Amino acid sequence: MEGRIARAGTKQMDLASVKRAYARWAPIYDWSFGTVSYFGRKRAVHFANEHKGHVLEVGVGTGMSLSHYHPEVRVTGIDVSRDMLERARRRVADEGLSHVEALEEMDAQALRYPDETFDTVAAMHVVSVVPAPARVMAEMARVCKTGGQVLVLNHFARAKGPLHWIEKTMAPFAKAIGWHADFTIEPVLAEKRLELFDKVPAPPFGIFTLLRLRKVRR
Ligand SMILES: C[S@@+](CC[C@H](N)C(=O)[O-])C[C@H]1O[C@@H](n2cnc3c(N)ncnc32)[C@H](O)[C@@H]1O
Repeated sequence: MEGRIARAGTKQMDLASVKRAYARWAPIYDWSFGTVSYFGRKRAVHFANEHKGHVLEVGVGTGMSLSHYHPEVRVTGIDVSRDMLERARRRVADEGLSHVEALEEMDAQALRYPDETFDTVAAMHVVSVVPAPARVMAEMARVCKTGGQVLVLNHFARAKGPLHWIEKTMAPFAKAIGWHADFTIEPVLAEKRLELFDKVPAPPFGIFTLLRLRKVRR
């Protein structure tokens, strides 16, 4: 099923729904979800800074992470939502973030970069939004240099407990809210060229998880 994900009990989300959802989110994103997720994003960027080199941030959104990068790290960001990108571009101009080399409108499922381009490829709160998460992981692996790292920060569905109940309740509203609340970790870990070497809970209260994966030759 091209450009869509099939998940039992979940309304499917295609690229047009994603764009519509994030056109609605863009004006309120920074002070709503953006604030809640602030410290987790900062932690993920810390690992990109350690690795240095050229970073690709997939689904860069309004660019809330961009000021956390070390000035010596070169950053390219892509996003499919023009409304979110517009805010990221404004932020880069307003804050004079000269380490940001490019912000491009692009689908993470079909990246327009050659193989083995980036030292770090990061996706923060993106894999549960895209129509085909496995394809995005494959693209992230392709453009990452062998030995480079892929960072995935996201909320992953719990198997039980009160959060599991909330996730199940929210799942049918994926199209309206702009992400799949019942998204599981499996599609992220299934990419053969990426080896998981670190998995840590991220703030607030460990709701999010930060995965660090290494690109290996297969
Ligand atoms: C929840 S926001 C996260 C934004 C940012 N990474 C952050 O941490 O604040 C999800 C972002 O993913 C983008 N997105 C969704 N599907 C995409 C796709 N197929 N290609 C590129 N970006 C996509 C959305 O437009 C949105 O900006």
